[in-house]
Amino acid sequence: MNGDTRLRCVINGEAFDREIDPRLLLVEMIRDLLDLKGTRIGCHTGDCGACTLRLGGAVVKSCMILALSAEGQSITTIEGIDDLTAIQAAFVAENGFQCGFCTTGMVLTAAELLRSNPDPSEAEIRRGLNGNLCRCTGYDGIIAAIRRAAEGMAALTGVSITPDA
Ligand code: FES
Ligand code: FES
Repeated sequence: MNGDTRLRCVINGEAFDREIDPRLLLVEMIRDLLDLKGTRIGCHTGDCGACTLRLGGAVVKSCMILALSAEGQSITTIEGIDDLTAIQAAFVAENGFQCGFCTTGMVLTAAELLRSNPDPSEAEIRRGLNGNLCRCTGYDGIIAAIRRAAEGMAALTGVSITPDA
């Protein structure tokens, strides 16, 4: 389209090199151009976290970012994550979801939290999730799932973790 701008980045390990509308939001590019529907849109205002994905070294809300901001960077969506077995299994075991709409954002945020803090307390988990809203679960199952995932990962890696008080 006339006025389009070239974007080069890496998405889930694959090179992306295409002319795009410079007004396109990152979440729209991911969902509409690439058909990666695991990244959700709940609000479009940066409040719910359903659109969370990893851009470069951080998790971001992709409804608040122009797609062109990804120039030269690496993007990972839920479809591109292959090391989440412990987190996903923990969400299932602890009933960490009901409708599932928030779950991909929760899982990506949990993965980032556990990467930076492998043994988070309940308070740290609640703080880490403060940008991700769930309208169904009441959060208890989600928090239990992240604790269970931390314990599962510690068992795999031999890291000693602190039991919650
Ligand atoms: Fe992006 Fe809600 S859709 S924060
Ligand atoms: Fe429905 Fe979280 S499980 S919004």
